[in-house]
Amino acid sequence: HLRPTPSSQMEEVSLLRGSNCRAKGAATGFKVAILGASGGIGQPLALLMKMNPLVSLLHLYDVVNTPGVTADISHMNTGAVVRGFLGQPQLENALTGMDLVIIPAGVPRKPGMTRDDLFNINAGIVRTLCQGVAKCCPKAIVNVISNPVNSTVPIAAEVFKKAGTYDPKLLLGVTTLDVVRANTFVAEVLGLDPRDVSVPVIGGHAGVTILPLLSQVNPPCSFNSEEISYLTTRIQNGGTEVVEAKAGAGSATLSMAYAAAKFADACLRGLRGDSGIVECSYVASQVTELPFFASKVRLGRCGIEEILSLGPLNEFERAGLEKTKKELAESIQKGVAFISK
Ligand code: NAI
Repeated sequence: HLRPTPSSQMEEVSLLRGSNCRAKGAATGFKVAILGASGGIGQPLALLMKMNPLVSLLHLYDVVNTPGVTADISHMNTGAVVRGFLGQPQLENALTGMDLVIIPAGVPRKPGMTRDDLFNINAGIVRTLCQGVAKCCPKAIVNVISNPVNSTVPIAAEVFKKAGTYDPKLLLGVTTLDVVRANTFVAEVLGLDPRDVSVPVIGGHAGVTILPLLSQVNPPCSFNSEEISYLTTRIQNGGTEVVEAKAGAGSATLSMAYAAAKFADACLRGLRGDSGIVECSYVASQVTELPFFASKVRLGRCGIEEILSLGPLNEFERAGLEKTKKELAESIQKGVAFISK
């Protein structure tokens, strides 16, 4: 007798009627891998990607606990087939054939830590994972979540350059959570539905490098100086607010998974050929003199199709930009130096 095949296993059992239908649907979707899938971000992100109708195949990779997470997620009756991969020897299988690789692997902050304090551990993790991407799916879009993003994206770029596979259009640092927070906090101040508010956030993803452009909020509005000061500080410290509230149990995971799933969906809709997909992201850029910068980018079939200009900044934002650039330059240099040493 055939026992039902767990949908997370690799073997197909042809006698199961459902397996053919599923394979047909799968042919039209995208293949997505999450590296660090058992973590605080990885698990809810896996859940959300399993719910995304654009995903046909979802690979869950981590160095711990993927069998359990994969079995659990695979029971959801959505279209994506889920497969689990455990430990370094399975990294290559996890990555082969992927269209999009999302990387939330690494340690999170504890109270009193800056994102830069995570550098020593996370830099090595991102390097190893990106070496795998270069070898197994060099044409995949890569979404880097692991902190410090301001340095881990330059690290990924250097790894890809060394491997001869670097395409700046395919490498994106995920700063969506800053935009998500900005939309929420600005909507609160304005008394609007957060879904109707759009705040560009530029620069990078740490402290003063998170630069909300409150002069460019949609719908158009104005703030007094007290509101500007409150909102800028709250958006820049949103992550720390969560780290402190969790009191040692980690940093933002649920709102981050939401943000990562939103950003991944935008990347997939771009790949599908949808038009007008614009998101803020930390990418290789020429909008400033720095080699990497977060700003609005237009996504398309080849990843980043256009990096939009920053638009007019007011005096407060111009001053913020100078501080941002100073800190970003150091973080970028630190990332580059990590690979070249
Ligand atoms: P976590 O500790 O709960 O999960 C991290 C996962 O990565 C664990 O399951 C761990 O086993 C796995 N991992 C460690 N080394 C690995 C390796 N070599 N290969 C594959 N997986 C590996 O941490 P959490 O809360 O999920 O955060 C993950 C990262 O995301 C942290 O660096 C955190 O700072 C960052 N983060 C980024 C945000 C952003 O806006 N870009 C927001 C919030 C967090």
